[in-house]
Amino acid sequence: MSDEIQARLTAVKDQIRHHNQLYYREAEPEISDRDYDRLKEELADLEKQYPNMAEKESLVEKVGDDRLEGFSTYVHREPMQSLDNTYSFDELTDFENRLNRLLDRESFEYLIEPKIDGVAVSLTYEQGQFVRAVTRGNGVEGDDISANFALIKNSPRQLSEPYPNALEIRGEIYMTLEEFNRINAERKAAKLPVFANPRNLAAGTIKMLDRAEVKKRKLTWVSHGRGHCEPATYDSLTQFFDDLRRWGFPMVQNHWVEEGIENSIQAIKKLDELRKSYAYPTDGAVVKLNSLELQQQAGSTSKAPRWAIAYKFEAEQAVTKLKDIIIQIGRTGTLSPVAILEPVKLAGTTVSRATLHNSDEIARKDVRIGDSVKVEKAGEIIPAIIEVVTDERPTGTVPYNFPDICPACGTAVTRPEGEAVHRCPNTLGCPPQVRRRIQFFASRQCMDIEGLGEAVVDQLVDRNLVQSLPDLYVLQREDLVSLDKFAEKSADNLLEALDSSKQQDLWRLIHGLGIQHVGTSASKLLVNTFRDLDSILLATEEELVGVEGFGSIVAASVVSFFADSGNQKLIQRLVDAGLKTKEDVPAAPEAKEGVFGKTFVLTGTLPTLKQNDAKELIEKAGGKAAGSVSRKTDYLIAGENAGSKLSKAEKLGVAILREGDLLKLLE
Ligand code: IVH
Repeated sequence: MSDEIQARLTAVKDQIRHHNQLYYREAEPEISDRDYDRLKEELADLEKQYPNMAEKESLVEKVGDDRLEGFSTYVHREPMQSLDNTYSFDELTDFENRLNRLLDRESFEYLIEPKIDGVAVSLTYEQGQFVRAVTRGNGVEGDDISANFALIKNSPRQLSEPYPNALEIRGEIYMTLEEFNRINAERKAAKLPVFANPRNLAAGTIKMLDRAEVKKRKLTWVSHGRGHCEPATYDSLTQFFDDLRRWGFPMVQNHWVEEGIENSIQAIKKLDELRKSYAYPTDGAVVKLNSLELQQQAGSTSKAPRWAIAYKFEAEQAVTKLKDIIIQIGRTGTLSPVAILEPVKLAGTTVSRATLHNSDEIARKDVRIGDSVKVEKAGEIIPAIIEVVTDERPTGTVPYNFPDICPACGTAVTRPEGEAVHRCPNTLGCPPQVRRRIQFFASRQCMDIEGLGEAVVDQLVDRNLVQSLPDLYVLQREDLVSLDKFAEKSADNLLEALDSSKQQDLWRLIHGLGIQHVGTSASKLLVNTFRDLDSILLATEEELVGVEGFGSIVAASVVSFFADSGNQKLIQRLVDAGLKTKEDVPAAPEAKEGVFGKTFVLTGTLPTLKQNDAKELIEKAGGKAAGSVSRKTDYLIAGENAGSKLSKAEKLGVAILREGDLLKLLE
């Protein structure tokens, strides 16, 4: 095999691994599902062509992995597989032909359902009683998300008789388009970045450790399958679905039962029309054998069942001209290429910009200014460029050269090892970075300074009144009244808001510094663990890795931020300006000795306290309330209907207390 093919193979694999991480773990994909599927197709082709290069466990076959730190895991009684995908009706016919051969039968009864673009989850019921909700994970074991699932109201906790003794119900957690739009509208109003699509938001939400946050976003359940079932009393999926309905589970809006693949294809076409009015995002149709016995006979490969296939709908696409590529500079100095397009109608909106992701993506697609490009909008808000229509390439175009200096400040850009992005390292002097950082610092999710919106920050930076965060705290009345639309009253209000922001909680200041990988929860964890700014500054990488919920990437990022002398000076100036640098010490920590510094986990329904109130009391007394049981847990506070956390605590030998014991410790 030529070096070139070898290199391509390695590159495709690296990209798939990179996108797996973003999609499954971080719920923040960079590329559309369609583009991802294309990468997988390319890898499958390469591996077919050069079988000696294929690894034993190909990435094509691999189920992604959504497991995260901070959750206890659970092994599915029956593995949760993925589905084979296709975008072509011909391949559906191939699917049927394969079944003909495999099962030695002419025709089959299929069930056709919408493929819901949500998060795959398995619910376990024992003796008719809900026990736990677990994500797909790596297919074999997933994260126990029962605590967050408890906030989803549309599924029964108790099945009415008759029911199988042990049952795994498979389905999706999703967010309705309405809820997604509501949240994004709120974020827009608060000048926070909007979420890209409902699936990512649902995936991110169900994995949040902060239940109060989860509560603010409505998630919904829909059932579509069966895992382990004992005794196995059902003959067909439709028969099982009748029971699911009887128990009160929500099911998909429409499904079809069809004889033969031709009829199924007609049903898929009908579904494609209907789905536009569904409350949830659908990206395809799933075709499954209805007979459970035939399913069993057909069996499965290591990745997917042979008795089911997903037909994915092409996202809406349009062809237009690429007029220009501009580079936007983010708060952390990342250079993001943006395509400026000849405006074109797409999926109900006019599109004039599209993301180009990064320099690798531009090179891979060989996108050139002047090209005709195919643009796609697939459930995502930001459209993406799929490919160049090379037949229409005008003469005289040249490959795009990614800038090697920052277009805003002229500093040479860097590309950290192993990262796909270019960065401008001129953190303190690059105007768009400074502007974005100050806007972020002032935003609701950080210091929440009223009256310091984007337009005001732009003016302050443009007029050189503010070059770095501490400059905000030396602004004078004269500086402000000179701004557009600023009267004395608004100047006074802003000065007042700045002054009172000095008393904001320390985690807000930490978050506002804009340390890479340190969001709100990491900021709170830092403050809860180290209590004051000095200790955070002095924390070693080793100590940071020891913080529950922190990985080595976050720890390294924190250390390198505080090791930077420019950042140290900046922080010193903020401290000199009088910003709060200590977490309020609990009133009398000595009196609550049993709680101070200890880690608690709450589970089940407590007799008098709500879980959140208990959590607050623990934190006030200097303790920590964690989301899941681990070796670091000191106490599990168990209430009524405690589930997997209780068994895990028992297994690890964690002390188990009742609410009354907790109240005694808090006295
Ligand atoms: S049946 C063995 N039906 O799509 C898998 N899956 O890409 C049989 N999905 O993991 C799955 N809607 O979580 C089935 N109506 C539906 C579905 C559906 C969405 C998910 C499912 C699966 C993933 C595969």
